[in-house]
Amino acid sequence: MKQFLYAKDIGDLDAALKEARQVKADRYAWKSLGTNKTALLVFFNSSLRTRLSSQKAAQNLGMNAIVLNVGQDSWKLETELGVVMDGDKSEHLREAIPVMSSYCDIIGVRSFAGLTDRAADYAETVLNQFIEYSGRPVISLESATVHPCQAFADLITIDEYKKKARPKVVLSWAPHPRALPQAVPNSFAEWMVAAGYEVVITHPEGYELDPHFTAGARIEYDQMKAFEGADFIYAKNWSCPGVSNPGQYGQILIRDGSWTVGARQMAVTENAYFMHCLPVRRNVIVTDEVIDSPQSLVIPEAANREISAQVVMKRMLESL
Ligand code: CP
Repeated sequence: MKQFLYAKDIGDLDAALKEARQVKADRYAWKSLGTNKTALLVFFNSSLRTRLSSQKAAQNLGMNAIVLNVGQDSWKLETELGVVMDGDKSEHLREAIPVMSSYCDIIGVRSFAGLTDRAADYAETVLNQFIEYSGRPVISLESATVHPCQAFADLITIDEYKKKARPKVVLSWAPHPRALPQAVPNSFAEWMVAAGYEVVITHPEGYELDPHFTAGARIEYDQMKAFEGADFIYAKNWSCPGVSNPGQYGQILIRDGSWTVGARQMAVTENAYFMHCLPVRRNVIVTDEVIDSPQSLVIPEAANREISAQVVMKRMLESL
């Protein structure tokens, strides 16, 4: 595997889930695969789960893991091409990427959307520079529009807890005080549809996700209707994707607290499990009552980030 951004990059999902079960059963069985290999994990943005789970996954495979926090551990890096570099950015990605790649065998990159230029974000301009200039396999550790390591971990978690072959999985928008990217909901929708599940997406009008990721899912603007009979509820905030109105891209259109996932909504589900990628704002995205309930999967979901990262790195090492 040369890059990991989309569900198609990992191929057959049943085979990927089988491999995830094998890794989870004995995560140190491939310790020799990564001997004398290095994973470089480049973070342009903050992280708790992605940073720790990726480091752990690399170490499980016997790799050396180096974490670089851009701008804190390194020079500030310019990411746009053709600019006059007379500001605070000391080095361009064009040089930094080949230099970084000379010290490693696999690169993971976290680089959030800027949320001002939809075309640039959806072209994945930062991640694609790593793919073009590194000559190394590249993993999106949440880039501008996708978070595939999270979506794969979510799929592993649903596979572990589902009680029927084709569960009803509902992705629900929820309010948030800050404008957030669409990477998590994009990838979650993409991966759940690819898995063949019944996928319903509910959000206020104006928050339609890019159809590239949601084709095959049903959109329901009434949150209560969407939750009826659901087996899994996945809550997440996202800012306006700007699909029908590019001028609103990245904006907060609504702060309606009635969308906060609580006992009222969960009561109409099929005793659904609650999921969120974390970090989560309690009593904004979800009530304490729901996230602290026995149906909450947020901790096992986060634990599976180690497994999803390890399967991806394992496949990359096998293809070096
Ligand atoms: N879910 C997730 O990616 O968490 P972090 O931002 O803490 O890595």
